[in-house]
Amino acid sequence: MANRVALVTGGSRGIGAAIAEQLAKDGFDIAFSYAKNSSAADKTANKIKEIGRKVLTIQANEATIEGNRKVISETIKHFGRLDALICNAGIYNTKTIDKVDIEDIENILNLNLRGVMIETHEAVLHMKAGGRIVLMGSAFAGRAPFSGISLYAATKASLRGFAQGVARDLGSKKITINVIEPGPIDTELNPADGEGANMLASYVAVGKYGHVQDIARAVSFLVHPDANYINGAAIPVDGGFLA
Ligand SMILES: NC(=O)c1ccc[n+]([C@@H]2O[C@H](COP(=O)([O-])OP(=O)(O)OC[C@H]3O[C@@H](n4cnc5c(N)ncnc54)[C@H](OP(=O)(O)O)[C@@H]3O)[C@@H](O)[C@H]2O)c1
Repeated sequence: MANRVALVTGGSRGIGAAIAEQLAKDGFDIAFSYAKNSSAADKTANKIKEIGRKVLTIQANEATIEGNRKVISETIKHFGRLDALICNAGIYNTKTIDKVDIEDIENILNLNLRGVMIETHEAVLHMKAGGRIVLMGSAFAGRAPFSGISLYAATKASLRGFAQGVARDLGSKKITINVIEPGPIDTELNPADGEGANMLASYVAVGKYGHVQDIARAVSFLVHPDANYINGAAIPVDGGFLA
């Protein structure tokens, strides 16, 4: 992976930070974005430096078109190349459909779906053969076991169709795109000791939350050259949530 560059959106905390650190261990130089929390970003950047890789942190609101363009252009400006794009930044919404307002709908669409589309478009203009795109979906794309997840599930389910279409667009260029669909993973977004966590864990075949490393290892494999024949797929990493 020498000299290769990966961009991880929302790489300052949670699943994204674990991916950024894992890909640094795999030999990638890392650009990662974050929204506001600069102390978390500094902490993750220091870990990547300790691993011995170069790191660029990018503050951007990726619910905006400017923010989407910024993360790609700053990565290219700094490193001069982009080999792997990991679209991980995302938000959740717990309102039932009768309670949501237009702002809820716009916020979640703009980050979880529109941002992924714009960043993928901008990234592939710079990617060469062997390029990799991984989108962070959710097991809720395949199953909605309780109320209050319609907006979130819709954005994550849409990533499946997007990845299938882009796989067809980019197959001849030898660039792959896949979706990882995590089950409940212990992060600040979804703490394993949070309200409702026991109920959520009970839907998982192995009966517990996953760890951020479970997702990072799957991404690590998908960006490896050995994964060149996995394309347009939605891959559950969910402890059997969808079983
Ligand atoms: N945790 C789970 O159980 C779970 C399950 C399935 C799927 N997922 C998906 O996995 C992804 C990561 O989840 P997580 O649990 O690691 O989330 P998290 O702990 O809340 O971390 C979110 C990351 O995204 C960044 N971010 C949030 N809004 C942003 C914006 N508008 N622009 C740029 N960056 C933004 C945050 O930056 P700041 O630090 O600056 O806020 C942070 O780095 C999401 O797409 C989520 O939907 C999570």
